Amino acid sequence: MKVFHYQGALFQAENQPLNAVAARYGTPCYVYSRAALENHWRAYDDAFADRPHLICYAVKANSNLALLNLLARLGSGFDIVSVGELERVLAAGGDPGKVVFSGVGKREEELRRALEVGIRCFNVETPDELNRLDRIAGELGRKAPISLRVNPDVDAQTHPYISTGLRENKFGIAIDDALDFYQKAAALPNLAVTGIDCHIGSQITNTAPFQDALQRVLNLAQRLEQAGIAIKHLDLGGGLGIRYRDETPPTPAEYAAALREKLGDTPYEILLEPGRAIVGNAGLLLTRVEYIKDTPAKRFAIVDAAMNDLLRPALYNAWQDIVAVQQDDATPEAVYDVVGPVCETGDFLGKERKLRIKPGDLLAVCSAGAYGFSMSSNYNSRPRPAEVLVDGDKTHLIRERETLAQLWQGEHLVLG
Ligand code: LLP
Repeated sequence: MKVFHYQGALFQAENQPLNAVAARYGTPCYVYSRAALENHWRAYDDAFADRPHLICYAVKANSNLALLNLLARLGSGFDIVSVGELERVLAAGGDPGKVVFSGVGKREEELRRALEVGIRCFNVETPDELNRLDRIAGELGRKAPISLRVNPDVDAQTHPYISTGLRENKFGIAIDDALDFYQKAAALPNLAVTGIDCHIGSQITNTAPFQDALQRVLNLAQRLEQAGIAIKHLDLGGGLGIRYRDETPPTPAEYAAALREKLGDTPYEILLEPGRAIVGNAGLLLTRVEYIKDTPAKRFAIVDAAMNDLLRPALYNAWQDIVAVQQDDATPEAVYDVVGPVCETGDFLGKERKLRIKPGDLLAVCSAGAYGFSMSSNYNSRPRPAEVLVDGDKTHLIRERETLAQLWQGEHLVLG
C-alpha cells in the first residue's frame, strides 16, 4: 500500500487530503503516516524472525514522543546517543531493558542515568569510556553490559558526511586494536562484555558493505572466543537506505538474507539500529508557496519552509521529491528552484523542479520523516513546525507549532 498517494488530483496521506491537514494545522508542517511507520518496523522485525533479534530504532532519525510510543507498543528497542534521547524513550513508555547507548562522547551523568535505569547495552566507542563506565558502575553497585563499537574500515559507498566505518572516521575502535581493548574490558570488575557493535554509515543502498563489515565482526568474535571472551550478541547498526529518487535499496528481507549468508548457524542474537528505513518514507513536509519570483537567471518558488525546518538539501545536497498537493493542469508547467525565506543561498529544498504551481499552492517535500524535524533549528528566529500523525481518516497533532514566545524562553536581559 502506498500511504502517500494521489486520490484524483489531490495528494493525500492515508485517507487524509493534505490540503485539509494544512487548513487545520497550518504550514510548514510535518505529516507522518502511522501505517507506514508500523509497516516499516514490522518488515524489519519479520525479516529477522528466524533468529533471536532486537530492532533498536535509532531515535536520532525522529524522536517525536508519539512515534517512539507507537514503536514501543510494537515491542521495539531503541538506539540512543544522549541522555535526552534516553529520557524521551522513557517518557514515551519505552523499555530501558531494550535500549542500547551509542555515541563517541558520553558524559558522566549520561552514563550514570543509563546505568540507573538499567539499559540493555553500552556501545563503548572510546577506550577511556571503559574506565569511566567501570568506575561509575562500581559507585552504583551495578555491572555495566558493554559491547565495543568497532570500526571495520569498510567503505559504505555513501555521502562522506554520513559514512562512519572508515579508518579516518572518529567513530568506534579500530578493529585491529579491538582484541586488546576487549581484554582490558573483561578485566574490569564492573563491566560485563556481552557483544560487538558496528555501524558503518547511513543511506547505504547495496548489501556488499554490510556483508564485508559483518565478516570482519564475525572474525573478531572468533578471535575473542579463542581468547576466552564469550560474545552473546552482534549489533550491526543501522544504515539501510531508502528510495528518495531512483535508488533501489535492498528491502529489509533482502538485507536480512544477505546477512544470513554470512551468519550461517552462528548462535548470536542480532541487534539492529535502523532509523531512516523505519521513518524516512513515513513522513513528508507540507509547505505553502508564498511567492513566485522570476529573475533573469532563474524562476524561484519561495515557500514557507526553509533549511531550518529541513536541513538535508542544504547540508548534503540531498534530493527529495517535491510534488504539488493539488494537481493543476490549467497552470503552465515551469522549472523552479524551491527555496525558503532564510538568508542563505544554501537555503533550498529542491533545485530545477518541474511544477505547475502558483502562489498559495501547497507542496509536499517527500521522504522527510527521517532527519527532518530532528535536525531542525530556530535559525532566523523561525518557530519549528507542527508535527501531525495521520491514522486512516484521523489526524493527531503530535507536536504543536512553536510559538514566538518559546523562541526566547529561558533568555535573560542583563539588568543595569
Ligand atoms: N546507529 C548509529 C550508531 C548511528 O550513528 C546511526 C545514524 C544509526 C544507527 C541510524 O542510521 P540509519 O539507519 O538512519 O541510516 N543526518 C543524516 C544521517 C546521519 C546518520 C547518523 N547516524 C541524513 O540526513 O542523511
